[in-house]
Amino acid sequence: MNSRIIRRSRKLSHIAFIIMLAVEFSLVGLFPSPPRMTEASVNVDVTEVEQSAYLLVMLLDSGRIVVDRNQTLINDRRLGDKGFTPEVFENQVIEELRVRTGVDMRSFGEAIVPSLARRFLPILMQVSKETVASAQLVINQRGIGYKNFIPASFARLAASRFSSKSQIILKQVALHPRNPKNTPDVYEEKMLSRWINQSGRVQPHSEYIEAAETGKIFRMMVPLYYEKACLECHGTPAGMLDISGYPREGSREGDLAGAISVLIPVSRLAEAPDRMLK
Ligand code: HEC
Repeated sequence: MNSRIIRRSRKLSHIAFIIMLAVEFSLVGLFPSPPRMTEASVNVDVTEVEQSAYLLVMLLDSGRIVVDRNQTLINDRRLGDKGFTPEVFENQVIEELRVRTGVDMRSFGEAIVPSLARRFLPILMQVSKETVASAQLVINQRGIGYKNFIPASFARLAASRFSSKSQIILKQVALHPRNPKNTPDVYEEKMLSRWINQSGRVQPHSEYIEAAETGKIFRMMVPLYYEKACLECHGTPAGMLDISGYPREGSREGDLAGAISVLIPVSRLAEAPDRMLK
C-alpha cells in the first residue's frame, strides 16, 4: 500500500470517529442525561469536551503532516530562504484540518465548533506558529541538509508550548521513545502496551476518569502509525543509525509508532473556566 492510501484510510477512521461523536451528541439530546457524578460536572457538556480534545489532536497532527510534506524543502542544503514561514505553515495546516475534520479555523463563526475548541484551537495554532518561527534560522541555513526539524520534533515542541500555556495537557508519546520527553505516563503506557499487542489498526480511545487528587478528568489517545516514508529512520535494519543519528527501531509499515494524548481536567474546567489558561 502506498502512503497516500494509508493516509486516506487513517482519515476515514478519523471521520468515522467524528461521526460517532456526532451520533452520540444527538442521542444525548434524545434520552435523559445520565446521572451526574459530581457537582463539578454540572456545567460541562460531555460531547463538547470529547470533540474539542479530538480537534486539538487533529490540529497537532495536521502540523506534523505539513512539516512532513515540506521535509524535502526544509532539508534542501543548496537553498537559503525556504519561504516556509509561520504564515505559509499556518495556511497549509488550516487547509489540512479543514479537509480532515470539516472545521475551518478561518470561519469559526459559521461552523458548529464547541466553545472549548474555539478557545483552544487558536492557542495551539499560535504556539505551532511560534515553533516554526523559532526554527527559521535553522530551516533557512544553507549548506546543512538534515536539520532535525521533523514532524516528531515539531509536535513535541508545539505540544509542550501548548501545555505550558493551558491546563489542557497535550503530548506525543511512544512506548520506547527516542526522546525521553516523549515518555508515556502510566496510563499512556498501559494503553500503548495494549495496542501494540492488537493486530490491525486501533481506534482512538477516550474515557472519563475520576480520582480524589485530580477530580474528573477526560483522556483521549489517538494512535500514530508508521508509513513507508517513516521507515528511512524507524525501519530496518534495527540498530543501524539513521540520518538523525538514532538507531533504527526495526519497525515495519503499519506498525504502531505512538500516540497523541490529551488530558482535560474537566472538574477544574467546570469550576473556573477562565483559569484554564495558565
Ligand atoms: C529523518 C528521520 C525520521 C523520519 C523520516 C521520521 N522520524 Fe520519527 N523520529 C525521529 C527522531 C530523530 C525522533 C526524536 C525527535 C525528538 O527529538 O523529539 C523521532 C520521534 C518520533 C516519535 C516520538 C517518540 C520518540 O521516539 O521520541 C514518533 C511517534 C515518531 N517519531 C513517529 C514517526 C512517524 C509516524 C514517522 C513518519 C510519518 C516518522 N516518525 C518519521 C526521526 C524520524
